[in-house]
Amino acid sequence: MHASTLQEYVEELCRSYTGPALLYDMGAVRQQIDTLRSLEERHRCTFLFTVKAFADIRVLSLFARHGVGFDISNVGELGLVRSVLGATESGQGEILSMTGPLLHTIVERNDPAGESPALLPARTIMLNVGSLGQLEWLRSLRRQGKRSMEGIVLGARITIVPEKELRESGGTLISRFGFDPEDHTVLRELAEWPEFQGLHAHLGVKISQPAPYLQAATRLVELITKLQAPISYINLGGGFRGFSQTMLEEMLGRLREIVPDTIRLFFEPGDYWFERAGYAICKVVDVMEKPERNTMLITADISADCHLKWSEPELLINADGGERSATILVCGSTCHEGDLIGAYMGPARIGEKSIIGLDDLLLFRNVSSYSASWNASFNGIPKANVVLHGEYE
Ligand SMILES: Cc1ncc(COP(=O)(O)O)c(C=O)c1O
Repeated sequence: MHASTLQEYVEELCRSYTGPALLYDMGAVRQQIDTLRSLEERHRCTFLFTVKAFADIRVLSLFARHGVGFDISNVGELGLVRSVLGATESGQGEILSMTGPLLHTIVERNDPAGESPALLPARTIMLNVGSLGQLEWLRSLRRQGKRSMEGIVLGARITIVPEKELRESGGTLISRFGFDPEDHTVLRELAEWPEFQGLHAHLGVKISQPAPYLQAATRLVELITKLQAPISYINLGGGFRGFSQTMLEEMLGRLREIVPDTIRLFFEPGDYWFERAGYAICKVVDVMEKPERNTMLITADISADCHLKWSEPELLINADGGERSATILVCGSTCHEGDLIGAYMGPARIGEKSIIGLDDLLLFRNVSSYSASWNASFNGIPKANVVLHGEYE
């Protein structure tokens, strides 16, 4: 069932409604792939896809076919990427970047004998080490002479907490991901290893301004000068919440003024690849009007807890001419009191008629790709259908 336009597809899904659905417009994702890839050469940068953001073979295949590499964090994600890359023509992806608390499981469980880095399905494999435990694991591999590290590029994950987040936490925010940029003892050891080539600093998931990226790049370049290491890449992680293309391009231009041309910039957004691509469709199962509070309380068969995690869904209200003066509170289907999808302004009634009634279908936009990864069953409520419209085969 693939009608030609997204709207026709939504109408078709509504006609044959079988339960809540998360819908992703792969045409919009495809456009975002084209946009981001078109910036790569001019700004000497590479955009990877962070697998946790939409861990679905159909989606990963689309990225692989368009030559986008992956950021993975453990052996589970490696399995997904392997099945996708195994199916591509060359059988080899371009780039696989790895970071996270289970980094060591990727290599150990993938290749217990530690003989062949080439078993990993990529041409370039970047291991970004971020803790003393991971450093010790690498040291022991070397001591045992198990792994030559041939074909593997090593990087250090560096903790950089953006100023705003630090301020908002009253200065108490610390991160378990990465080495302190002031901890030169560890970094100097890494800098002496022949495979050491990069620095990685993912700043957080909700970075919506260029400033934190520019500050992080400045700090990393200062660190490179201090270490005098032959660094060939800086990975600034994901984020870019709500960035327009112009904003992104301007930021890339400014980053290129900070970071020498010999150093390639890497980014590994997750959700940003799905900007304006995610929707949810659900059915109203209960309506209560609370005129004394000017509020309409809707219960839908979708659930914020099960199906819409990490999303801030926006209800599309078609109520031309109605004054938007009432609160429409849409709640989810679990018994959890806090299963709230969102509060929206709209008219509760137009004339005599309530604008939302029992069995009506609701459409939301601004649904995150992460919701598809989290999509879960809880409280007897089944998972949502995850449907893709447009190119993905
Ligand atoms: C190391 C790393 N890189 C990239 C991302 C992607 O973040 P986002 O979806 O905000 O772009 C994450 C998300 O948790 C991450 O942990």
